[in-house]
Amino acid sequence: MRTKDEWKHDPEYLAIVQDLLDQPAVQRLSQFTQHHHSNRLQHSIAVSYDSYRIAKRMHLDYKSTARAGLLHDLFYYDWRKTKFDLGTHAFIHPRVALRNAEKITKLNDKEKDIILKHMFGATLAVPKYMESLIVSLVDDYEAEHEFFSPFRKHIEQKLLSESTSTNTKLKG
Ligand SMILES: [Fe+2]
Ligand SMILES: [Fe+2]
Repeated sequence: MRTKDEWKHDPEYLAIVQDLLDQPAVQRLSQFTQHHHSNRLQHSIAVSYDSYRIAKRMHLDYKSTARAGLLHDLFYYDWRKTKFDLGTHAFIHPRVALRNAEKITKLNDKEKDIILKHMFGATLAVPKYMESLIVSLVDDYEAEHEFFSPFRKHIEQKLLSESTSTNTKLKG
C-alpha cells in the first residue's frame, strides 16, 4: 500500500469488504501479532487491498480477491508460539482460516482456493486461479515488508549516523 490508510478512502473497496470488516471474527485479528510490527488485521487488510488493486488492473475477479484476501489468515493462535513447527503451520492455518471464513460468509470456489493456496511456495498446493497466485505473492511481499521495514529503518539510521561521525572524524 502506498499509504497505510489508503484503503479507508476507497469507497469501491469498502463496499466489497465492509460486511466482513464489521464482523467481530475479523476484528478479533487485531489482537494477534503477525510479523513483529503489525497485527494480523493490519496484515490481512494490506494483503486484501494490494491484491484487489492488482486484480482490478489485470481485469480479474477483484471482488473475490479482496474478500478472500481479507480472510486468508482468519485463525486465532500465535503462530510463533504454537507447538507445531513452521512447515506444519504453513499446511494447517489455511485450512483453519477456510473453516473460520465459512462460518461468517458464503464463499465461492475461487475464494476457497485463494484462502487454501495462499502458502504456495511453502506448501505443495498449487493455485488453481490467477487470483490465488496474486494473493500468495502479495502475502509473501507484505510479510517481508512488514517484518523488515522498522529493522531496515533502524539499520539505515545507524549507517547514516556512523557515516556522519566518520566524515566528521575525517574532516577533523
Ligand atoms: Fe497465512
Ligand atoms: Fe498472510
